Amino acid sequence: MTRERSVYQPVLERVLTHAAAHLESLQDAPVSALVTKEQLRSRLARSLPARGTDPAHVIDDLVADTAGGLLGSPSGRFFGWVIGGSLPAALAADWLTSTWDQNAALYACGPAVAVIEEICGRWLKQLLGIPEKASFALVTGCQMSHVTCLAAARHHLLEAGGWDVETKGLWGAPRICLLTGTHRHGSIERAVRLLGLGRECIVDLPLDDQSRLSSLSLEKALKEREGDPNIVVLQAGDINTGSFDPFRELISLAHEHHAWVHVDGAFGLWANASPKLRHFLNGAEAADSWSTDGHKWLNVPYDCGYAFVANANAHRDSLSLRASYLTHGGVTGSSRSPASRPASKFAGRGIEGEGVLTPRRKGAEAQRNSEGGFVSAESENGRLRSRSATGQAGSTKRSLALRAGVRVSESHAAHAIALSAEREDYFGRGAGMLPDALC
Ligand SMILES: Cc1ncc(COP(=O)(O)O)c(C=O)c1O
Repeated sequence: MTRERSVYQPVLERVLTHAAAHLESLQDAPVSALVTKEQLRSRLARSLPARGTDPAHVIDDLVADTAGGLLGSPSGRFFGWVIGGSLPAALAADWLTSTWDQNAALYACGPAVAVIEEICGRWLKQLLGIPEKASFALVTGCQMSHVTCLAAARHHLLEAGGWDVETKGLWGAPRICLLTGTHRHGSIERAVRLLGLGRECIVDLPLDDQSRLSSLSLEKALKEREGDPNIVVLQAGDINTGSFDPFRELISLAHEHHAWVHVDGAFGLWANASPKLRHFLNGAEAADSWSTDGHKWLNVPYDCGYAFVANANAHRDSLSLRASYLTHGGVTGSSRSPASRPASKFAGRGIEGEGVLTPRRKGAEAQRNSEGGFVSAESENGRLRSRSATGQAGSTKRSLALRAGVRVSESHAAHAIALSAEREDYFGRGAGMLPDALC
């Protein structure tokens, strides 16, 4: 694939021209669609081309064929549903994101974007009033944030009852109930369907005359299900009325009954960023998980949502990936289940984990010049040791992490280091695997 500027520049400039014209038109163009579905289909449904097309033509065709079929939803004059626009910096950064085209799943695959993600999480927690120790994930929207948070809830509640859902699944597991108000968003239902809890697990509770869940109805429902694993879903910004549940009262009630509290704050959680509106969220910081969107009130481009879980271990244990080509705390692959490892050891996603090389490549060495000077990592009986420029040796992966910038955690550093050591054979230094994995 060519990376020549002469190939990219003309097509990107064309996009800039089209984009600027579109953004300007949003000021007074109709917000609704001006063409029919049939017109759009007849324009767009061309036969699959057998040959490549000039990139500039692709862009011009795209703009011409979609004309009249784009809603003016980012315009500020669109009042249907809860849909955001894009602020200039957010839009421009989104272009860069596509340009950089990083696989941000691992630090090793995208060091800078992994750190950006970390900082996003920190800033968002400050803005939204979420405890600093909560875990954080970037997801595609509030829907997948619910799935993420409720997966953590499912894991935690069943584990507390002695059931390892990640190993055994839900067959024979205690039945989880989800207690919430009748105005809950449809994405909650889809989340429980995806998680195998089934629509019938939802108990819709009546709301008061302000569309809020009352402590009376919640208490009654919790008492009826005393001893069962229960999730309570509260609303920060009801989609129909905008109302906020009385968090302080309801969360303490739910916790008295050992329920997990999840807050659907797709747009309402942002009230915390305003000193005038913050009071709506009083007490919400005591919840167990929170979901919100970036593509609504924050006005960043689609798709962008955020998930936060107070119990970071439950989050990781429910969603971490184990595979034969990854190394986890000295164990390769899936032979060791997440539930069987000491959860507290890996608190947080950051630099608190332990990197251990697999026996296969004991003695493998990795080196890198970093801010802190020359750093080397080597394995000693399969255990990672780090060494600084001054020659100080330490068994701490933390010091290696700090000096070399490796995020040592089960899923990142151990993976990065294992990749660098084990897969050098496959990728070799020439492919940049070793330095990338350690920087
Ligand atoms: C209250 C509420 N929850 C959840 C969602 C789902 O969000 P998303 O479409 O980003 O997945 C929405 C979307 O409008 C919402 O308003």
